[in-house]
Amino acid sequence: MVRPQIGTNPAFTELDTELYLDFVQGLFGLVSKLDSAARPLVEAEYTAFREREGRPIQTVDEAHERFGKLPIVAARHRIRHAIQTMNHTAVRTDLERRRAELLAALDRAETMGPGTLQYDPNWKIPEYATREIHRLRGGYVTDPLAGYFYHANTRQFYGGSNDYDEMHQAQVDKLPIPADGQVRRILEMGCASGQSATALKRRFPNAEVWAIDVGIPMLRYAHMRAVELGLEVHFKQALAEDTGFPPASFDLVYAYILFHELPLDIAERVCAEAARILRPGGLFLVLDFPTADTPMGRSRGIYGEILGDIDRRHNEEPYREDFTHSDFGAMLRRHFPKVEVINEGFGLPLRVATR
Ligand SMILES: C[S@@+](CC[C@H](N)C(=O)[O-])C[C@H]1O[C@@H](n2cnc3c(N)ncnc32)[C@H](O)[C@@H]1O
Repeated sequence: MVRPQIGTNPAFTELDTELYLDFVQGLFGLVSKLDSAARPLVEAEYTAFREREGRPIQTVDEAHERFGKLPIVAARHRIRHAIQTMNHTAVRTDLERRRAELLAALDRAETMGPGTLQYDPNWKIPEYATREIHRLRGGYVTDPLAGYFYHANTRQFYGGSNDYDEMHQAQVDKLPIPADGQVRRILEMGCASGQSATALKRRFPNAEVWAIDVGIPMLRYAHMRAVELGLEVHFKQALAEDTGFPPASFDLVYAYILFHELPLDIAERVCAEAARILRPGGLFLVLDFPTADTPMGRSRGIYGEILGDIDRRHNEEPYREDFTHSDFGAMLRRHFPKVEVINEGFGLPLRVATR
């Protein structure tokens, strides 16, 4: 028996899984509450430390050493790790029961439209992109069911408010467009389960929408989902730093939470590639974690440093701290003549780079 789908999320077999994941979702909310309580406490301890010692904390290891043992901080870390384990285990246990059936559904959708799917199983995936991330076993590229797992896992993270891609759609609906109003071709880089890509097609029904990803499992899942939604999106296996598209062939290029998952040298190459494939006046829109050059990044504080580092270490986010400490605005300016940051309305800073 398969349970009815909740929104557009993968369906489960057991009511128990759904109820358990509801609980897990609630626990993600609890961690936010613990963070709200712990942050001022840690900041106050840090002020006292500076007054007492006459110096700032030197390294993030020292921050963990000084403040990580405060009971609320230690509990917060343990609960966060446990929730991620609960999330992954429940999703995997349930979906694994239907592995053959889920793979068959991906196979059936391969040649279905609207939209297309292109990938090459013999393609050599760069080493940096094969690493496990968010503790998703096999990362984005190894397990053929990774797209299902990613979508089902991130549902809890979005707190139940994204079951019909409402959050992706709300973000996409607010994105700026080129000054001349022309939006004929759009590319999403690092599309994962394809939720932004389908939102882009909904907002711009007359535009040709492309979405690329390094991971075949993600592309196959995203394509199947777009087919089920009846939305014409063209999915292609390609690297964001080497897309294979002709120069000046897009009006908009969008990257949502891709950059913090890239090594900085690759991020630089992605900016160059976006500049190459955008036409003059086209926009590169990057919605991602705050970096050191943004107001949100600057107000991160010692607690933000601790959380970022714990996420890097224990949630397998290997590149995020290099990104958050970087001057991403300067990187964009090396490739685009005009770069602005929108700090309100998206929860994260939206960088708008005009070609
Ligand atoms: C956090 S997910 C992106 C979420 C997605 N943009 C959305 O709207 O929900 C990051 C994705 O980027 C992909 N990725 C990582 N490095 C890449 C690269 N160099 N080129 C293309 N895709 C990449 C991963 O496989 C993964 O699917």
